[in-house]
Amino acid sequence: MKSSKYGIHRVIVPKGTLPQAALKISNDMNITSNEILIKVQALNIDSASFSQMEKAAHGDLEIIKTTIMDIVNKSGKMQNPVTGSGGMLIGTIEEIGSDLIGRSDLKVGDKIATLVSLSLTPLKIEKITAIYKDIDRVEIEGKAILFESGKCIKLPSDLSENLALAVLDVAGAPAQVSKLVTEGDNVLILGAFGKSGILCSYEAKKRAGKTGKVVGLVAFEKDKEDLIKTGFCDEVILADATNSIKVLDSALFASGGKEYDIAINCVNVTNTEMSTILPVRDEGIAYFFSMATSFTRAALGAEGVSKDIKLYIGNGYTKGHAQIALDELRESSILRKIFETRYA
Ligand SMILES: NC(=O)c1ccc[n+]([C@@H]2O[C@H](COP(=O)([O-])OP(=O)(O)OC[C@H]3O[C@@H](n4cnc5c(N)ncnc54)[C@H](OP(=O)(O)O)[C@@H]3O)[C@@H](O)[C@H]2O)c1
Repeated sequence: MKSSKYGIHRVIVPKGTLPQAALKISNDMNITSNEILIKVQALNIDSASFSQMEKAAHGDLEIIKTTIMDIVNKSGKMQNPVTGSGGMLIGTIEEIGSDLIGRSDLKVGDKIATLVSLSLTPLKIEKITAIYKDIDRVEIEGKAILFESGKCIKLPSDLSENLALAVLDVAGAPAQVSKLVTEGDNVLILGAFGKSGILCSYEAKKRAGKTGKVVGLVAFEKDKEDLIKTGFCDEVILADATNSIKVLDSALFASGGKEYDIAINCVNVTNTEMSTILPVRDEGIAYFFSMATSFTRAALGAEGVSKDIKLYIGNGYTKGHAQIALDELRESSILRKIFETRYA
């Protein structure tokens, strides 16, 4: 039987919504003719989601485990009800619906990473076998389903699985940066030494070139030292991204008083909207990759300070995003080393 390419047939509550907005979807692992069944190896939980669960559990791994199992058992997917975000997964293709056979080069047995959020992916967890909280990784025994509209990528042979998973999780950010930043731009990156932040810093410098300026913002002295060493940022400033006045002052000091063409928010905590908006010039861009962003705070905040700027929501997908992000690791040995040390 053929089903909705967006997975609408799996929505249980409330009817009329898409799987991502649904409170409960069916995680029956019998596939239709246009779905793909995946044997899951690991979940890469979205950073905002993982840090929220970790905080609520006071770091207790058993409580985090129970939280994840409860969410999946209740909703049929791994969508944190507090942050609304998901993450992505890696696994092996176990079955391909008959209508999808031959439509791509995917075949049973391929190791893949999904490029659609866990917040809409039907998931069944039999057992959580390990949690690596430093890298938001949860290893499981379980299965998941990809709808016809869902994208996935075969894991590359030249990068380790963990490395690829880490990069693909945030692939949308550097790919969007490659399209938004142009030669000569003045760019501010908040959370510049995090996973998406460091990829964005590298890409922004590549695009802004010698005539542009990339300023990275980090919260800790050690991150500042390490980020300076990469050479991806022309300057690195130390500030708490939730303190918008301090961020504005430090950011403008670093740019010699010039407002920024574009500010990119890659932090994983709430209340950083104005720190992104305030340093941006009239008709510039504030790009919110962070899932901890509040649309209301950003929209009303920009209006409140009369900033006529473009507010971009960090769409996790843009054409060629996986390739752009993976290629960054192939291009830069510095970036690759950082990712190998942190995530491999
Ligand atoms: N739009 C999408 O499709 C999409 C996809 C994936 C992820 N995301 C979101 O993107 C954001 C970043 O993800 P990620 O994987 O790059 O996370 P990450 O590796 O945890 O990076 C977040 C960075 O923000 C820093 N930070 C935290 N609080 C800060 C503060 N008050 N001031 C300054 N810096 C602070 C962190 O520093 P410490 O490590 O020192 O705390 C870290 O370096 C998250 O909100 C995530 O949910 C969005």
